[in-house]
Amino acid sequence: MRTWTLEERYRVLESPEDVRGLRDRIVQSDYRQTYHVQPVTGLSSDPNGFVKYEGVWHLFYQWCPWGAVHGLKYWYHVTSEDLVHWHNAGVGLRPDRDYDNKGTHSGSAIAAGDELYFFYTGNHRDENWVRTPYTCAARLDAEGNPEKLPEPLFGPRSDYSEHQRDPKVVYNEEKNCYYILIGAQTLDKKGTVLIYKSEELLSGWTFAGQLHVPGFEDFGGMWECPYIVKIGGKDVLIFSPQYTKLPGRGESTNHNVYFIGKMDYDTLTFTPDGGYHHLDHGFDFYAAQGAANVGDPDRAVLIAWIGLPDNHYPTEEEDWEGSMSLPRELRVRGGKLIQTPLPEITQLRGASFSWEKGTINTLGRACELEVTAAGGDNEELVLFCGQDGSGGLHIAYDAERKVCTVDRIGMHKRFNEKVGEVLEMPLESPLRKMQIFIDHSSVEIFVNDGEETFTTHLYPEADELFGRASGGLAVNGWELKPSVKDDFVI
Ligand code: FRU
Repeated sequence: MRTWTLEERYRVLESPEDVRGLRDRIVQSDYRQTYHVQPVTGLSSDPNGFVKYEGVWHLFYQWCPWGAVHGLKYWYHVTSEDLVHWHNAGVGLRPDRDYDNKGTHSGSAIAAGDELYFFYTGNHRDENWVRTPYTCAARLDAEGNPEKLPEPLFGPRSDYSEHQRDPKVVYNEEKNCYYILIGAQTLDKKGTVLIYKSEELLSGWTFAGQLHVPGFEDFGGMWECPYIVKIGGKDVLIFSPQYTKLPGRGESTNHNVYFIGKMDYDTLTFTPDGGYHHLDHGFDFYAAQGAANVGDPDRAVLIAWIGLPDNHYPTEEEDWEGSMSLPRELRVRGGKLIQTPLPEITQLRGASFSWEKGTINTLGRACELEVTAAGGDNEELVLFCGQDGSGGLHIAYDAERKVCTVDRIGMHKRFNEKVGEVLEMPLESPLRKMQIFIDHSSVEIFVNDGEETFTTHLYPEADELFGRASGGLAVNGWELKPSVKDDFVI
């Protein structure tokens, strides 16, 4: 693994030429994807500013131009008309003010009236590297660029630790008021959310207080990227708790969870109907953000970073890493979220294929598999094994326990071994169906029409492009056409 100096990580991008050489190199990689948003160069992490505005979906990602390293963060901008085909649109926010001198960190967007507004964390550091996180705002100007306010909206509170960031702006119709949710940590190092409110977007923000989630006062040491949304009449609280291990999640200390319940903006209390749920059961799913202005009270549209903050991935050797997940639709059913790929993704289907039972089948680098289970029995699906059926990613279903175990130890390229290479995905109902999206270095599995999901990076080598399935599984699929224009636009 390469070591980076602070100067290298926090170098300011002066011109696209600074990264052209890097870019020319990384596009040669076997692991560049064709229908996922991925970093134009360097590293992508959290999705930011996800919004529908004047018929176009805007999405940004945390971007460090220089390589597979978390350093000076920009917002890189991509747009789409259908959430399937994406275009690179260049840098959205750059750290060019004193208040954001060491990074334009995560945040959100909202459309109101004819305007589009952005809220983000200005990561300021002084000469002693002491950090001050500011909550900053910008508005889209006539040329289509976010124009920053001269000053931050507000600074951090001194009665919480320096971890105060990731403003998610939401509008509450009943209160006719905007709220900003800030991921935070108390002085005794417990994760929480701070809530600010205002009737205007660019002024009038006052601190309303700390969010209460009864029973979860001691649940992780920092809650990154909080989000509250009403779906089908139920409130959903989504966030990424850190600095804690959770049962069944290996050694990972970074998670993405949700609660379903009731949000009371008078008492700032979110009362969960039950315990927490994992948003995704995979190795790599974090900092999920819901789109603003979706315009449908029964569903939300969510996208996440395929990656975790402290993890390392094999493409680090090639000086790039990270990816956005596919956007997914969220609905609430039976006390939980049902997460499904967007119906529009079927536009990408090309040639179809079916696996022959009892044989080893070839597996493309960009395809969709639809796997149906006859029901009742233990089953196993192996993706990316060798031509002799050895190795690969094992998805084993235990019918008695109703659990899928996903094991990637058999892959040639191993990574994050200490965090864990085997995870379980408990199901509520017996395995019926898996919809699996494969794109060069990622695998996303939607089980039983969205009851559970599992997302992971995976880096198959050329002699691992095969798959096999046990007798009770029928596997049909489609090659998927490219939909993300991977142009060099800075
Ligand atoms: C989550 C996070 C955010 C922060 C951003 C910086 O991955 O740590 O809390 O704003 O990344 O890139």
